[in-house]
Amino acid sequence: MRVIAIDGPAGAGKSTVAAALARRLGVARLDTGAMYRAVAFAALREGIDPGDGVRLGALARALDLEVGERVTVDGVDATAAIRGPEVTAVVSAVSVHPEVRAELVRRQRVWAEAHDGGVVEGRDIGSVVFPNAEVKVFLTAAEAERARRRVVQDDLDGDHAAVASDLARRDRIDSTRPASPLAVAQGALVMDTTGRSVDDVVEEVMEVLARL
Ligand code: DC
Repeated sequence: MRVIAIDGPAGAGKSTVAAALARRLGVARLDTGAMYRAVAFAALREGIDPGDGVRLGALARALDLEVGERVTVDGVDATAAIRGPEVTAVVSAVSVHPEVRAELVRRQRVWAEAHDGGVVEGRDIGSVVFPNAEVKVFLTAAEAERARRRVVQDDLDGDHAAVASDLARRDRIDSTRPASPLAVAQGALVMDTTGRSVDDVVEEVMEVLARL
């Protein structure tokens, strides 16, 4: 099983790079952030407190979740809603709970077995979920550039300062939580994507793969 792990903070270019890389390699791709967002979406729907790890863990275990081109949660298409401001506001708080993480990590490993590996993006993929991944990439980018990309990607109104402060808030929670915080995995290739094109970044990863 061949897993390529792509980790990094919000807006570093993970989704775009992961999708392009999966296409080039002809393998599947999993956006694990979409899974945490789906749990946050369901928690809002059920009125569960983002601080209640026990209930959120039970919710994560019970969810009928499909994460692919579209994201469905208990049969409801949540593709657009999981990118909306309500979910974005609570997703980091939902993601701190070990009960939630244990279930989503289990599902991520099942997914990889079923697809015989693939490109998997998130925050803890190279460090925790697939520590034996064939290649680990940690993408970063300057904060202003990350905010600009989020505005474009999520079609937000153009308030870059507000988006930047929200990214910084999420990064702080994601990096300082005790359970699998965002961190550079051992052996990861750290790439700053500021000012670089997607093709350029993908090419560098392809070169690393070719040398294996
Ligand atoms: O990649 P994203 O911005 O869609 O991720 C949303 C949130 O999900 C992120 O702020 C933290 C959480 N997350 C996580 O804790 N672990 C992962 N492997 C992926 C995402």
